Amino acid sequence: MHVSNRVEFGHLIDNEEFNLVPLNPELWEIEKNRWDWERRYLNPGYLEVVEANSTVEMPCPDVYWFPVFTERFSQEMITTFEDFGKWSDGTHDDGRLEGGYESVPTVDIHMKQMGMEAEWLEILRSYIQPLQLKVFQGYNNEVGPPRAIMNFMVRYKPDEQPFLRPHHDTSTYTINVALNRPGDDYQGGGCRFVRYNCSVTDSRVGWVLMHPGRLTHLHEGLPTTHGTRYIIVSFVDP
Ligand SMILES: [Fe+2]
Repeated sequence: MHVSNRVEFGHLIDNEEFNLVPLNPELWEIEKNRWDWERRYLNPGYLEVVEANSTVEMPCPDVYWFPVFTERFSQEMITTFEDFGKWSDGTHDDGRLEGGYESVPTVDIHMKQMGMEAEWLEILRSYIQPLQLKVFQGYNNEVGPPRAIMNFMVRYKPDEQPFLRPHHDTSTYTINVALNRPGDDYQGGGCRFVRYNCSVTDSRVGWVLMHPGRLTHLHEGLPTTHGTRYIIVSFVDP
């Protein structure tokens, strides 16, 4: 028998530079207070799926599905972005881009606009890169963290932008994070891969879809017919 008289009294956090401006500032704490960040926002299923011999779900050919974030993360991201509120108008003219033109526009907010770009890249490095290596074996950016220029939250709703026509992403691979629940928060929605005539419509909150961006995985955003659907998208290269 092992007996200990040690008592857990909690732990110290680093509160230097804690950002009080946005809603849910804890979302930004990935580097400063990672233990707390993971406890709040990392899906308990992540550690299992990242194991070497785990099986990965593949709802469509070369489309992989992973639990990465918690419901709390998903909910807080939505409320934080909605509170910020600077959604694009979904037209081709986009002053946030270098050329000022977006060929496949969505109604969205970039991580950069939220001041969350560095934190998001850290999420890609810590949690997404290991999954990338798991399903696209040996495919890596050897010189550093994943490169991802486009990281944004998209909002689909019937009276605004309900769907997205078939397109290729400007990425080597794309991740798509479902933030809310079909059937409850919205009706319709989902992603259809045209080449395989295969759709993922039973989205799971906090789960990530990972698929090749160019060439094989032409895809479309299926119409959201009621409510509002939110996703986060990253174009990774690689
Ligand atoms: Fe896309």
